[in-house]
Amino acid sequence: MNHPAANDPAANDLAAPADRLRATLGHLLDGLPPRQAAGAVERLIANYRGATPTDAPILRDRADVVAYAAYRMPATFEAVRSALAEFADTLPEGWAPDSHVDVGGGTGAATWAVTDTWAGVRPVTVLDWAEPALALGREIAAPCPHSAACPIVPGTDWCHFSARVSRSSLHRQVKGGSLPYEDEKFSYVAATRLPAAPAPSRVVRRPQIRKGQVLLDLCEPDEHLRRTTVTKRHGDLYRAARDVDWGDPWPPG
Ligand SMILES: C[S@@+](CC[C@H](N)C(=O)[O-])C[C@H]1O[C@@H](n2cnc3c(N)ncnc32)[C@H](O)[C@@H]1O
Repeated sequence: MNHPAANDPAANDLAAPADRLRATLGHLLDGLPPRQAAGAVERLIANYRGATPTDAPILRDRADVVAYAAYRMPATFEAVRSALAEFADTLPEGWAPDSHVDVGGGTGAATWAVTDTWAGVRPVTVLDWAEPALALGREIAAPCPHSAACPIVPGTDWCHFSARVSRSSLHRQVKGGSLPYEDEKFSYVAATRLPAAPAPSRVVRRPQIRKGQVLLDLCEPDEHLRRTTVTKRHGDLYRAARDVDWGDPWPPG
């Protein structure tokens, strides 16, 4: 065997992909009622075994995808890992792929197997028409407190944050401004295949500090935008609200 990472968890600082996959799937299933998961699995099996051609994704929503992942991912991972181990044995010592494309990759089981076989980081492209499957495969770590669709209605606004940039005199000359700083607006998404610990909620506007109260616009884990008012009566929480910045998690950890 010339692929040390496959059987040597110590080859990574982190646990082996097989253990991480098991832990991640357990974490995902935590929030799904067992009856809903079982119902989704039955429907998926019936669809996959049936002869009906489909012209739309069978994996329709997050419940389908979580059920599919729990039901199929460990087995697919082991099968692909086993095939890749044989393949790796035939290759010159030290060879590893530069990149990896998985066509019809669903929740990305094969990508986990590739990582297990060849340690290291490489660009990965997973192509699939089932967006919920892709979303599950790349659990969002930040800024969203969930891995579902953005609650902002397209065209009405955009999810963004702001970073203050000091302006040098050259910068001011070039840009023609007089302030010693400018605010750069930006948007980002950080996704990971590792178990993520997203923020409980996130402050998505500049907090409005009023007398005795702070108004916070939050993106929440149930995929809604909500304004919350924190007043002096909230004690420590109020003091925290006066310090919280646009883009921070809420409440602070
Ligand atoms: C049987 S699943 C296998 C998923 C993944 N390769 C695995 O082993 O876990 C087939 C996948 O192909 C995707 N798929 C089927 N037809 C497709 C199409 N026309 N375009 C894009 N993806 C498609 C499905 O959404 C599904 O995720």
